[in-house]
Order: sequence, then structure tokens, then C-alpha cells
Amino acid sequence: MYQLRQLKMLCLWVPLTALGLVIGTGPLYGGRPGKASPASPTGTQDLSKYVGADTCRGCHEEVFKQFETTPHWKTLLDRRKGKEWQGCEACHGPGADHVNAGGGKGVSIFTFANVSADEISKRCMACHEYSEEHSNYSRSAHKLSEVSCIDCHSPHHAKGKQFLLSADQPQLCYSCHQETKPEFGKPFRHRVNEGLVQCTDCHNEHGGFLTRQLRSAATQDAVCFKCHVDKAGPFVFEHQPVKTEGCVACHVPHGSSNPRLLKRSQVNVLCLECHTLTAGSGVPGLPSFHNQAQKYQACTVCHIAVHGSNFDPVFFK
Ligand code: HEC
Ligand code: HEC
Ligand code: HEC
Ligand code: HEC
Ligand code: HEC
Ligand code: HEC
Ligand code: HEC
Ligand code: HEC
Ligand code: HEC
Ligand code: HEC
Repeated sequence: MYQLRQLKMLCLWVPLTALGLVIGTGPLYGGRPGKASPASPTGTQDLSKYVGADTCRGCHEEVFKQFETTPHWKTLLDRRKGKEWQGCEACHGPGADHVNAGGGKGVSIFTFANVSADEISKRCMACHEYSEEHSNYSRSAHKLSEVSCIDCHSPHHAKGKQFLLSADQPQLCYSCHQETKPEFGKPFRHRVNEGLVQCTDCHNEHGGFLTRQLRSAATQDAVCFKCHVDKAGPFVFEHQPVKTEGCVACHVPHGSSNPRLLKRSQVNVLCLECHTLTAGSGVPGLPSFHNQAQKYQACTVCHIAVHGSNFDPVFFK
């Protein structure tokens, strides 16, 4: 017994030490062991030109005070890498020439003005590309459309409540996606404007593998299952389109004039889009007794479990 306990202790101890080593020697953020890091976030090779944030503070007291209140202040604590990874110069590049010239607008310092979205994002990504959330930025519709990190984030003038956002959701998103705004004003909608659901619950604003930058749940299922778990199944009797085409086969995700966010105002019209008597379609047609002038219009009054059932092949329960 004694030996077994010792063994258990060892099992606990070894991974803890390994963890300690990683924390102890790894960089505070970013730089993954084994992957060669660039010389500096800004790609500058001549490291003698970095003067340190205290020097900047001398003339930019206000900016420095604000900087101290943001998460980027933490970069000053990271002494394992050089000055080029710390403070102001990690973003603005080496400041020696700017300082020696006595500072000034447009004088030898990187300002983010008049440069491509790509170049801006590259600077930020030098530290941020390693998180899972951001590693797909390069494939995002945002990047491909020249939207850069600082179109949504503002290191010095953030107005959002968190994450240094230039505005909070959904206003941030509406500022460019004006076409989306009316959809969330419809009578039936996800309550995004009320803050109950966020755009980024469904979309990864930083990019991902699915179309429309949709998020997928951990299980790679549709994003909708994250909240509507009861629709996920698996069911003994699946309603095929829920699995093959997904929720948008019948629902409009943002908002709709129809109850339950349905694509069609009348349920039978929706169902009949597929359940017609087209030979060879693979979709069962309506039984002949389903007279559409009568009670058979309201399909889901009888076929209640339209998302799938564990009890009934025609979804009566
Ligand atoms: C995380 C990156 C980042 C860090 C760190 C950073 N800046 Fe900036 N800075 C920017 C960006 C981006 C802009 C462009 C304006 C904007 O979008 O807010 C900017 C703009 C400025 C400006 C122009 C005036 C203004 O307020 O927009 C000054 C001055 C400035 N930074 C000084 C500093 C100083 C001093 C520090 C260190 C205390 C610092 N910056 C740290 C990214 C950074
Ligand atoms: C000797 C004083 C002095 C020092 C030290 C100094 N600056 Fe400046 N800097 C200025 C002045 C003056 C301006 C122009 C007015 C303004 O924007 O505040 C300026 C402007 C800037 C701008 C905006 C440039 C533009 O074209 O709009 C940035 C960015 C900047 N400084 C960053 C830094 C950084 C980073 C450091 C530290 C490496 C630094 N400064 C150190 C005096 C200084
Ligand atoms: C289209 C707007 C948009 C763009 C472009 C964008 N972000 Fe974000 N970012 C957001 C929003 C919104 C959040 C907050 C998400 C939330 O509330 O869950 C966020 C969160 C973050 C966070 C904190 C949360 C986390 O997951 O770590 C970091 C760091 C970040 N973004 C970095 C970046 C970088 C770096 C870039 C450029 C490569 C970038 N962002 C581009 C909108 C954007
Ligand atoms: C030198 C490395 C470095 C660079 C360059 C850098 N960041 Fe960061 N960033 C950090 C660190 C470190 C944090 C704090 C992470 C933490 O708290 O875990 C951070 C945090 C953030 C956050 C999250 C804020 C929050 O409230 O959680 C955002 C957003 C962000 N950075 C955006 C940017 C943008 C935009 C740029 C480019 C203009 C940029 N960063 C450049 C290192 C960097
Ligand atoms: C600075 C402008 C801007 C901001 C802010 C912005 N976007 Fe975008 N977004 C674009 C552009 C441009 C495209 C690519 C063209 C298009 O599809 O409209 C795009 C594309 C998208 C797409 C992909 C559409 C597709 O066809 O694949 C989604 C989803 C999206 N944005 C969501 C968001 C969300 C969520 C926010 C807020 C967190 C946001 N956007 C903020 C400009 C912006
Ligand atoms: C409940 C989940 C959900 C929420 C919340 C959501 N979206 Fe979407 N969005 C989707 C789905 C699903 C699609 C894909 C629709 C399709 O493929 O027919 C989509 C498509 C889009 C598109 C592509 C163009 C289009 O309309 O098909 C954009 C842009 C977009 N959303 C932006 C936003 C913005 C901005 C917000 C917040 C104001 C937002 N979305 C909130 C699920 C959501
Ligand atoms: C972040 C959580 C969340 C995600 C993700 C989400 N929903 Fe919802 N959904 C809700 C909430 C909360 C409500 C209730 C709305 C209300 O009461 O305003 C709702 C309501 C609905 C309704 C209407 C229910 C009714 O009784 O009228 C439908 C249909 C719906 N969602 C479909 C979807 C689809 C399709 C997706 C994926 C594209 C999705 N939802 C993703 C949270 C979510
Ligand atoms: C084949 C068409 C179809 C598909 C596909 C579909 N739904 Fe529905 N859904 C409906 C109909 C019809 C209703 C209204 C039922 C009623 O009126 O009783 C509904 C109602 C809902 C409701 C509100 C009532 C309830 O049962 O909670 C939610 C939430 C919902 N669907 C979510 C989803 C999600 C999430 C998906 C994807 C996994 C999905 N639906 C796929 C047809 C569909
Ligand atoms: C996007 C196309 C589509 C829509 C819309 C649709 N269905 Fe289906 N439905 C199918 C397919 C495909 C099957 C499965 C056929 C199979 O398993 O061979 C099916 C199966 C069924 C079955 C089981 C039949 C059987 O013999 O197994 C019923 C009942 C049914 N659907 C009712 C409905 C109702 C009610 C609606 C409207 C709320 C609806 N469907 C909307 C495509 C659709
Ligand atoms: C009054 C109740 C009722 C209503 C309303 C109703 N059905 Fe049915 N449905 C039935 C019954 C009963 C069956 C036969 C069940 C069986 O064979 O066990 C059936 C069977 C089906 C089947 C299976 C056919 C097959 O060959 O397997 C489909 C598909 C179907 N209905 C679709 C619909 C659609 C679409 C609507 C709306 C337009 C609808 N039903 C409305 C009661 C109803």
C-alpha cells in the first residue's frame, strides 16, 4: 500500500513540475517553445534602437497612464525576452530616432496610419497568433476584406467595456454590417440588441473553419446546439434535414417576421417545400388523406417532435 501511495504522489508531482517549468521559463504570452520567433514583434533587427517605455513616459505621460490601465501593461513584466517585446515599442517599433529628434508628429516612429491592414494585424499577431481563438485570423472574411485588428480594438481609446474594443457589441458590428441591423429589429429574433445573445456567440469574429465564420461547438456540431441542446439528439428517429442541412433549412438565424424564426409564415408551406410528391426525391410525400383545405395544414399540431423523436417515426411525440 505504501508503495502505491508513493507512486500516486509521484504521478501528481511530475506533471506539476513539468507545468512549473513551462510557466517558469516560457514567455508570458505568445512565443511557443520549438517555434522560431521573429526577432521582434515589429520585425526590426537592430535591437539597440529600443529605449524602453520609461523614456516614452517622459514626454507621453497621459498616454502612459492610460496604457498602465490596459492588459498590455503586462508586457512590461515579461523580462525573458528583450525590450522589443515590451511596452510602447512592442507596437510602435524602436523609438531611439524619435527620441533623439526630440519627438514630434511624423518623426521616426510607427503610427499605424497609412499602412495596410495586413501590416497592422501582423504586429498584433506576433504576440496573439498562438491562441486558438485567433490562429484562424488569416482565413477570416475580415482579414480578406482588409479589416484589421484596430478596426475593432483600440489600445489607447477603447470605448467598449472590455477587450479594448472600440465599441461594444452589437454596435461595433453594426457600424459596418448595416444590412444585418434590420434583421434584429424583426418581431421574432434572437435578442442581440437587448444583450441576451451576442453576435460572437454564433460567429467567430476572428475567423474559423466554417462558412460565415460560424462557431462550432466543441463537438464540431452546429453552433445552435450550444444553447438549444435539446435539439442536438441523437434521436432514434432523426428528421433528416436537421442533420444534413442544419437549422437554417427551416429557420432564419437572425430574425424573422414569422414566429419561431421560421422561414415561411405558414408551416405547411415550409414542410411542402420538401414533402411534395416528386418521384425519386427520397423525401416521403404527403399521405393522400392530408387534405390541405382542412386540419392537415397545421402539420406540427400532430407532428410535434419535428426536430427528431425517440418514440415515433413520424414524430407524433
Ligand atoms: C498594443 C499596441 C500598442 C501599444 C502597446 C502602444 N500603442 Fe500607441 N498606438 C497604438 C495604435 C494602434 C495607435 C493608433 C491609434 C489608435 O488606433 O488608437 C497608437 C497611437 C499612439 C499615439 C498617437 C496619438 C493617439 O493617442 O492616438 C501615441 C502618441 C502613442 N500611440 C504612444 C504610445 C505610448 C507612449 C505607448 C506606451 C506607453 C504606446 N503608444 C503603446 C498601439 C499601441
Ligand atoms: C522628447 C520627448 C518625446 C519622447 C521621449 C517620446 N516622444 Fe513621442 N512624441 C513627442 C511629441 C512632442 C510628439 C508630437 C505630439 C504628440 O503627438 O503628442 C510625439 C508623437 C508621438 C507619436 C505620434 C506620431 C504621429 O505622427 O502622430 C507616437 C506614436 C509617439 N510619439 C510614440 C512615442 C514612443 C513609443 C516613445 C518611446 C519610445 C516616444 N514617443 C518618446 C515627444 C516625445
Ligand atoms: C471584427 C471585429 C474584430 C476584429 C477585426 C478583431 N477582433 Fe479581437 N475581438 C473582437 C470582439 C468583439 C472581442 C470580444 C469577444 C467576446 O466578447 O467574447 C474580441 C476579443 C479579443 C481578445 C480577447 C479575448 C480573447 O479571445 O483572447 C483579443 C486578445 C483580441 N480580440 C485580439 C485581436 C487581434 C490580435 C486581432 C487582429 C489579428 C483582432 N482581435 C481582430 C472583435 C474583433
Ligand atoms: C508584445 C506582445 C503584444 C503585442 C505586440 C500586442 N499584444 Fe495584445 N496583449 C498582449 C498581452 C501580454 C495581453 C494580456 C494577456 C492576458 O492578460 O492574458 C494582451 C491583451 C490584449 C487584448 C485583450 C484585452 C483584454 O481585456 O483581455 C486585446 C484585445 C489585445 N491585446 C489586442 C491587441 C492589438 C489590437 C494589438 C496590435 C495593435 C496587440 N494586442 C499587440 C501582448 C501583446
Ligand atoms: C470595420 C468594418 C467591420 C466591422 C467593425 C465588422 N465587420 Fe464583419 N465584415 C466586414 C467585411 C468588409 C466583411 C467581408 C464582406 C462581407 O461579407 O460583408 C465582413 C464579413 C463578416 C462575416 C462573414 C460573412 C461571410 O460572408 O462569410 C461575418 C459573420 C461578420 N463579418 C461578422 C461580424 C461581427 C460579429 C462583427 C462584430 C464583432 C463584425 N463582423 C464587425 C467588416 C466589418
Ligand atoms: C443565433 C446565432 C447568430 C447570431 C446571434 C448572429 N448570427 Fe449572423 N449568422 C448566423 C448564421 C447561422 C448565418 C448563416 C446564414 C446562412 O448561411 O443562411 C449568419 C450569417 C451572417 C452574415 C453573412 C450574411 C448573411 O446575412 O447571411 C453576417 C454578415 C452576419 N451573420 C453578421 C452578424 C452580426 C453582425 C450579428 C450580431 C449583430 C450576428 N450575425 C448575429 C447566426 C447568427
Ligand atoms: C447563445 C445562445 C444561443 C445560440 C447560440 C442560439 N440561440 Fe436560439 N435562442 C436563444 C435564446 C435565449 C432564445 C429565446 C429568445 C427570447 O426569448 O428572446 C432563442 C430562441 C430561438 C428560437 C425561437 C424560439 C421561440 O420559442 O420562439 C429559434 C427558432 C432559435 N432560437 C433557433 C436558433 C438557431 C437556428 C440557432 C443557430 C443558428 C440558435 N438559435 C442559436 C439562444 C441561442
Ligand atoms: C425541418 C424543419 C426544421 C429544422 C431543420 C429545424 N427546425 Fe426548429 N422548428 C421547426 C418548426 C416547424 C418549429 C415550430 C414548431 C411548432 O410550431 O410547434 C420549430 C421550432 C423551434 C424552436 C422553438 C420551439 C422549441 O421546440 O423549442 C427552436 C428553439 C428551434 N426550432 C430550434 C431549432 C434548431 C436549433 C435547429 C437545428 C438543430 C432546428 N430548430 C431545425 C422546424 C425546423
Ligand atoms: C428541407 C427539406 C424538409 C423539410 C423543410 C421538411 N422535411 Fe420532413 N423529411 C425530410 C426528409 C429528407 C425526410 C426523411 C426521409 C427518409 O428518412 O427517408 C423527412 C421525414 C419526415 C417525416 C417522417 C416520414 C417517414 O416516413 O419517416 C415526417 C413525419 C416529416 N418529415 C414531417 C415534416 C414536417 C411536419 C415538416 C414541416 C414542419 C417537414 N417534415 C419539413 C425533408 C424535409
Ligand atoms: C391531424 C393530424 C395530422 C396533421 C395536421 C398532419 N399529419 Fe402528417 N400524418 C398524420 C398521420 C396520422 C400520418 C400517418 C402515420 C402513420 O403512417 O403511422 C401522417 C404521416 C405523415 C408523413 C409520412 C408519410 C410516409 O409515407 O411515411 C408525412 C411526411 C407527413 N405526415 C407530413 C405532414 C405534413 C407536411 C403536414 C402538414 C402539411 C402534416 N403531415 C399534417 C397526421 C397528421
